[in-house]
Amino acid sequence: MGNLLMVCVLEQENRELNGSYESLSGGTTTEGFEDFTGGIAEWYELQKAPPNLFKIIQKALQKGSLLGCSIDITSAAETEAVTSQKLVKGHAYSVTGAEEVNFRGSVQKLIRIRNPWGEVEWTGKWNDNCPNWSGVDPEVRERLTRRHEDGEFWMAFNDFLRHYSRLEICNLTPDTLASDRYKKWSLLKLDGNWRRGATAGGCRNYPNTFWTNPQYLIKLEEEDEDPDDPERGCTFLIGLIQKHRRRQRKMGEDMHTIGFAIYEASKAFSGQTNIHLSKNFFLTNKAREKSNTFINLREVLNRFKLPAGEYIVVPSTFEPNKNGDFCLRVFSEKNANSTVIDDEIEANFEETEISEDDIEPSFKKLFGQLAGSVSVFLLTSYPLTHVTSKR
Ligand SMILES: *[C@@H]1O[C@H](CO)[C@@H](O)[C@H](O)[C@H]1NC(C)=O
Ligand SMILES: *[C@@H]1O[C@H](CO)[C@@H](O)[C@H](O)[C@H]1NC(C)=O
Ligand SMILES: *[C@@H]1O[C@H](CO)[C@@H](O)[C@H](O)[C@H]1NC(C)=O
Repeated sequence: MGNLLMVCVLEQENRELNGSYESLSGGTTTEGFEDFTGGIAEWYELQKAPPNLFKIIQKALQKGSLLGCSIDITSAAETEAVTSQKLVKGHAYSVTGAEEVNFRGSVQKLIRIRNPWGEVEWTGKWNDNCPNWSGVDPEVRERLTRRHEDGEFWMAFNDFLRHYSRLEICNLTPDTLASDRYKKWSLLKLDGNWRRGATAGGCRNYPNTFWTNPQYLIKLEEEDEDPDDPERGCTFLIGLIQKHRRRQRKMGEDMHTIGFAIYEASKAFSGQTNIHLSKNFFLTNKAREKSNTFINLREVLNRFKLPAGEYIVVPSTFEPNKNGDFCLRVFSEKNANSTVIDDEIEANFEETEISEDDIEPSFKKLFGQLAGSVSVFLLTSYPLTHVTSKR
């Protein structure tokens, strides 16, 4: 999966950045990207795009998220191959705009793409010279096509879905974005651990121990501000990261298989806190939502939309009795609030600050190219334990 774009690459072997697919695809790029920004990265296979992807993109842009897209290659020989409509395969593009325009009485969804490494631009519909721009209100046309940088072009969203393979969205933490221009995510970070014989309960397949896992009460307080969206609710992302695993991997221990489940708290109790839900609760109540999979990656991440209210998130390893430390992050569109429903679970994690000076200049440059006008001033609000400083 992780062959995407967006760079990332604080690991030694990938330091030689050069804008080519080869140099970008060397590591698990999403992880590196997250390390660099402290953000949370989602990715989408465009052939299986969710119906509201255009909206997701628009909102991501409003939040200052970094968006990258690419066209898969099927062999090394295809690297940098240019399609008949002048898109470069295996190349990391960024997405810089998403707009709906009126065109002769119909609404067209358009997306703006930037090729950070060159002037090769899309020649299909809605390219800079497309005659159909004359059918768009001159003011809108002027606004959208002005300030065009080299390598930046519009295309129809449908064409985007057809020609590109993947989209990656790196959602930034509120402290990373200096500008007030953006509607920032609100972020909750909850640290915890699984301990053999105590809180390492395993997944629901182990009903005798599942309930002993750490439990978190999350309050989604306000619905999204989104008058056009018929589906009301609170949008949020949950990312469950296992900490320190890479270090442990060097000592021969692998990543755990991890995931989480979300339950409606109203079913359990109302207004009370500090109640650890019992075995019986989980035997008699279904999860409202779950991570898509249990998987042995560093992070499991999913996007959800639920009515405002209280929910209980239960992160776990697949099998019981696996010791581990984790960080659960909730990125919510509006305010959310949380309580740990178990005071035995303590946060004990080391935060490694890395400063700008620790970052390779070529990486900064490349990051700057991708990030465009977004100013990222400080990194890291979560542990960067495996990022080694150069000095
Ligand atoms: C990229 O790599 C190629 C081959 O390794 C090299 O010839 C070229 O100069 C590099 N470009 C940059 C910008 O470093
Ligand atoms: C212009 O718009 C028409 C109507 O949507 C479409 O059929 C045609 O393919 C477009 N032409 C170009 C060059 O994009
Ligand atoms: C979270 O809830 C507590 C108690 O209900 C409240 O005091 C606090 O201000 C809330 N925090 C946020 C960020 O809304």
